Amino acid sequence: MNSLNHVAIIMDGNGRWAQSRGHLRVWGHVRGSKIVSEIVEEADNLGVKHLTLFTFSTENWSRPIHEIKILFRLLKKFLQKEKKRIIQNKIKFKVIGDISDLPQSTKDLIWEMEELTKNMDGLRLTFCFNYGGRSALVDKVNQLVENNIAVTEGNLCESFEVGDVDLLIRTGGDQRISNFLLWQMAYSELYFTPTQWPEFSAKEFREIFSSVSKRERRFGMVAAVKDWDTSSKQAQINKEGLGQMSEG
Ligand code: FPP
Repeated sequence: MNSLNHVAIIMDGNGRWAQSRGHLRVWGHVRGSKIVSEIVEEADNLGVKHLTLFTFSTENWSRPIHEIKILFRLLKKFLQKEKKRIIQNKIKFKVIGDISDLPQSTKDLIWEMEELTKNMDGLRLTFCFNYGGRSALVDKVNQLVENNIAVTEGNLCESFEVGDVDLLIRTGGDQRISNFLLWQMAYSELYFTPTQWPEFSAKEFREIFSSVSKRERRFGMVAAVKDWDTSSKQAQINKEGLGQMSEG
């Protein structure tokens, strides 16, 4: 069993779910926002350390303005409704992305929640709001350059607010990453489910988690070879393989 400490989710399929039931697309977001608390709770139960949710992408600005406003309002409603529970469960809450265009009252709520929970040692819950993976990467590189810090993998890793993703789940049936946490997904396990987000559940989350936990993650290395007799096998490779190579 490998440990999946950081789970990230692209909560897709809200609009299609609503339309297929004869509702307006925004109804899907309303229903989708209600699932979020259930999934946060289940992540905590599963022992996940970081849960990162894609709540609004930079590309989402091209949607009709009333849909954007509903998404903004749902974020505020979620925070108002869940504030007590987040604090009780010692969840450390953070929003990453550009929130400057949000209404002032929502920004205040976000800052208040971040401040109140900054020392919490429970689940780290991060909302990516008005977020884009490419621009986040460019911003971090520029920050390093401005501060005269070498642009290295290590320095970049340290500069991001969230670390490497162990498991990415995308609901809604599409199999793509859509400019989400590009840097952090270099070695993520990917899981795409056809379930639309408003129908996603703690049960399905648990099943995905359990099945992906059994995958072997090699990070570019080879699998551990059982009964590998280093001395004799290596000697044989040297003799038969490398020897021939150098002879040739
Ligand atoms: C994609 O659905 C989802 C989003 C654009 C954002 C996710 C938003 C929520 C789950 C609701 C808001 C919740 C909080 C807590 C802020 P889509 O409209 O792209 O679906 P489609 O692919 O069917 O069109």
